[in-house]
Amino acid sequence: MEIQLQIQRQRPQGAPYTQSYRLDVDPSATLLDCLLQLKGEQDGSLTFRKNCRNTICGSCAMVINGRSALACKENVAGELRAFPDQTEAGLPVITAAPLKNLPVVKDLAVEMAPFWRDLEAVAPYLQTEAPPQGEEFRQTPAQREQLNALGNCILCGACYSECNAKQVNPDFVGPHALAKAQRLLGDNRDQADAQRLAEYNSAVSGVWGCTRCYQCNDVCPMDVAPMDQIGKIKQRILAQESAASSRPVRHRKVLVDLVKAGGWVDERKFGVYVVGNYFRDLGGIASVLPLGLRLLVNGKFPLTFHPSQGTRTVKALIERVEAGADLSQT
Ligand code: SF4
Ligand code: SF4
Ligand code: FES
Repeated sequence: MEIQLQIQRQRPQGAPYTQSYRLDVDPSATLLDCLLQLKGEQDGSLTFRKNCRNTICGSCAMVINGRSALACKENVAGELRAFPDQTEAGLPVITAAPLKNLPVVKDLAVEMAPFWRDLEAVAPYLQTEAPPQGEEFRQTPAQREQLNALGNCILCGACYSECNAKQVNPDFVGPHALAKAQRLLGDNRDQADAQRLAEYNSAVSGVWGCTRCYQCNDVCPMDVAPMDQIGKIKQRILAQESAASSRPVRHRKVLVDLVKAGGWVDERKFGVYVVGNYFRDLGGIASVLPLGLRLLVNGKFPLTFHPSQGTRTVKALIERVEAGADLSQT
């Protein structure tokens, strides 16, 4: 069958432009097959990365029809089914562009150095004393089982490309790095949990930088579910830190405490408790005063608080979640 491939081409500092190619392909061909055919038959200057052709090496990730994916995993028939209305001059169209959040080297190849730097920032290796001579590290099947899904990450960059937090906050280490961080926290051989949790407990670079947009879970070709892994790290931090320890921790704890107390957030207290650390941080309070005054002057600052009529139900639900209940079954 004949399709049109619309490929975003670009050189460093150059403006991106779209080049269209007609291609006769088998519907079962992968996008990578199409690109290889195109390069061999029509345009040897087209640049992209690939290696294993089999969803193992992670090097062929690119933006296909608008979302980050592996070119060797997605095939023509699947793309046409998912985007039936995408046509031009009577031909079905498939688009390809380089990964986002990374500088373009040429066409579909991006510079991966920032991705590796961010991974390095979470110390992505076991930190442990060597076992006594003649012995080895041992794990039970259950301990090993914990690492299975996390170990499947092929470091393709699809999650990094779609990460909304990374787009606006270059210091955020990204979903791939935090998924790896959880893989190490979940490894019974690693002995650096306390140090790791302290490092990952950052509002900017660490777990609190994630905006929970779900995109990384959505695009990961290996079902690593990075956002879920970030959630597990947050739970561990929240379980061991007090509200006084840091603003991100206080933000979560104050939110839950206020909703438990009144069914919804008492906005008069929220800012003062979180930023002002329950009136202990006078500098923090001073920093929100101008905003508070502006709200007051414009009639936006609530002077009174009316608890929700459903406060008891909300409180009971929160307590059940805190006790580990699965509310999806109720
Ligand atoms: S977590 Fe998934 S999407 Fe992200 S780098 Fe690993 S395999 Fe790719
Ligand atoms: S859920 Fe968090 S880490 Fe994942 S893509 Fe969204 S902001 Fe990034
Ligand atoms: S070429 Fe290796 S994952 Fe696609």
